[in-house]
Amino acid sequence: MTSRATRNLATFTLRDGGGVPLVLLHGFPLDHRMWAACAEHLPPGVRAIAVDLPGAGHSDLDGFPPSIEHIADAVYLTMTDAGEGNAVVVGHSMGGYVALALAERHPGFVAGLGLVNTKSTADTEEARAKRLRIAAAVDATQTVDAVLGMPANLVGATSTEHRRNLFPVLDSWIRAQSPAGVAWSQRAMASRPDRTYVLDRLDVPVAVVVGAEDSITPLAEAEHMVRAAGSPLGPAMGDAALTLVPGAGHLSVVEEPQAVAAALGLLHTHVVAHH
Ligand code: MLT
Repeated sequence: MTSRATRNLATFTLRDGGGVPLVLLHGFPLDHRMWAACAEHLPPGVRAIAVDLPGAGHSDLDGFPPSIEHIADAVYLTMTDAGEGNAVVVGHSMGGYVALALAERHPGFVAGLGLVNTKSTADTEEARAKRLRIAAAVDATQTVDAVLGMPANLVGATSTEHRRNLFPVLDSWIRAQSPAGVAWSQRAMASRPDRTYVLDRLDVPVAVVVGAEDSITPLAEAEHMVRAAGSPLGPAMGDAALTLVPGAGHLSVVEEPQAVAAALGLLHTHVVAHH
């Protein structure tokens, strides 16, 4: 059942175009800005709309208990209220958890699925406990200090050495987030189930993208999703169902935006052909 989720998440048209759009869902603890460079590299004519998830960027929390399902409903209601009948839903990391919940709860909306540096499995007990500790620390201090160290793990070794300019940018994006939103999102992620079965059932094109240096959602998680999806893009898609981005970590979208845009452009082409 769709919760009475907020219908007015902040959305940003990063690329104009026609037809079925890409709806881009950001990771944690970030907002729509992480997609800006990637959107610039999309093929001409591909429309791209980035969403700020509840409690992130320009979107408020709406008083609901933390849950990924609630976020998925909020994205669905926001987009359908805006007149979008369907979309290629693309999620980075936490955005991928939302994309899978959206595919489960509103399958008719999802014309294609892009899963970027994310996983379909649930947290381990240890990971869940860590999230709840971070959420408690954020609540206690009313600051986002507990997540300021994240960029060191978000980017890969190549970026740590050669893309030092990314660090102040990521720091400013994280500092701009609200403590309430950060704590809420951690609790939402902690409560999510394993959604591998969603990929098993899905019959729309799926593209999985992962940074070769991702230590948070590594290649094994990406391969697990591709296996579950059963390479639904078929022989014509070749091995593009799984894109490994060299020289990038968990934030491949920001570290190597051109490579991620190429994979998403291909996914979009296949969705159009599939329709
Ligand atoms: C993200 O990038 O969204 C986070 O690393 C996801 C997570 O904490 O599982």
